[in-house]
Amino acid sequence: MTDDLSALRAETEAALAAAPDLRTLESLRVGVFGRAGSLSGLMKTLGGLPAEARKERGAALNLLKAEIEALLETRRTALEEAALEARLRAEREDITLPPRPFAPGTATEGGIHPISRTVEELTAIFGAMGFRVVEGPDIESDWHNFGALNIPDHHPARQDHDTFYLPGTTEGGLRRVLRTQTSPLQIRTMLSEPPPIRIIAPGRTYRADHDATHSPMFHQVEGLVIDRDITLGHLKGCLVDFLRAFFGIADLPVRFRASYFPFTEPSMEVDIGWNRKTGDLGGGGDWLEILGSGMVHPKVLANCGLDPREWQGFAFGMGIERITMLKHGMPDLRPFYESDQRWLQHYASDPLAPASLHEGI
Ligand code: DAH
Repeated sequence: MTDDLSALRAETEAALAAAPDLRTLESLRVGVFGRAGSLSGLMKTLGGLPAEARKERGAALNLLKAEIEALLETRRTALEEAALEARLRAEREDITLPPRPFAPGTATEGGIHPISRTVEELTAIFGAMGFRVVEGPDIESDWHNFGALNIPDHHPARQDHDTFYLPGTTEGGLRRVLRTQTSPLQIRTMLSEPPPIRIIAPGRTYRADHDATHSPMFHQVEGLVIDRDITLGHLKGCLVDFLRAFFGIADLPVRFRASYFPFTEPSMEVDIGWNRKTGDLGGGGDWLEILGSGMVHPKVLANCGLDPREWQGFAFGMGIERITMLKHGMPDLRPFYESDQRWLQHYASDPLAPASLHEGI
């Protein structure tokens, strides 16, 4: 490369390295390659050269052109990256949210939510009676939630449930629902293990319902006992013991009232004694319905492959929010799910003192 070309290359390289931004880079590019650019000017002089010299000079100019283009490109990439970095730094958003201030006197340690606490308590009580905890999916098949429980397609009991149906079907082509009750765990358990069975199934349930005492998501606990000689007497003894232990009232009045559920025969609703005026549980002469129960319907046993002449048992189901509200005198169900620190602090319990049955049943 001749001296003048080397000088032009060095000069351009220095200018490119010093270019602070893309605009400067562009004017440098025009200064070299534009109509009146330095390299363009040199190209124009080629025409006046003799053939041999023109060939040599032309090759040198083309080489220089390629070199400067590469230098330009490298510098452009570097400047573009720097510009993007700067923009990202400048446009950075603070997406953090300051925590809600704690009300004066509020504990900053966590506590056990009253729903979880009730589940712990009833697990301890039923556990002492030999029950085991089972769990199942929140998204159920129509058959587990209704059909197998003797609630066929057009049964009016289905309407009471205000069911959330989901799009699509299960593997077996059944409609999918958010379970409206924990009763499908009766079916799942009988299908998956042989009797004798003694389980409780606490968990979330869903119905399209919303007011001070109903929430679209709530909790139930199901109970199921299957063996050869189970009678109504076992059902009554079990539930009376449970209710007295849970509410901590040794002589809590308990009443069994004939009722109807498609999956039990006979069916019974269970009431406890309370005082309607004061809201106090125990004596008081009034009755409050608290749960549903009954002897497992022979059709339900048969749907799960059990011979009703050989096996029988009882089942029950109750609302966890409901028994929690009654136990603690809570008037409204909605705060259970609102994460209000004041409510939580008032009703939460000590995580280091889990529910136990030190006083026995
Ligand atoms: N599944 C019923 C409901 O959600 C409650 C219930 C009643 C469960 C009677 C039972 C039972 O197991 O035997 O209303």
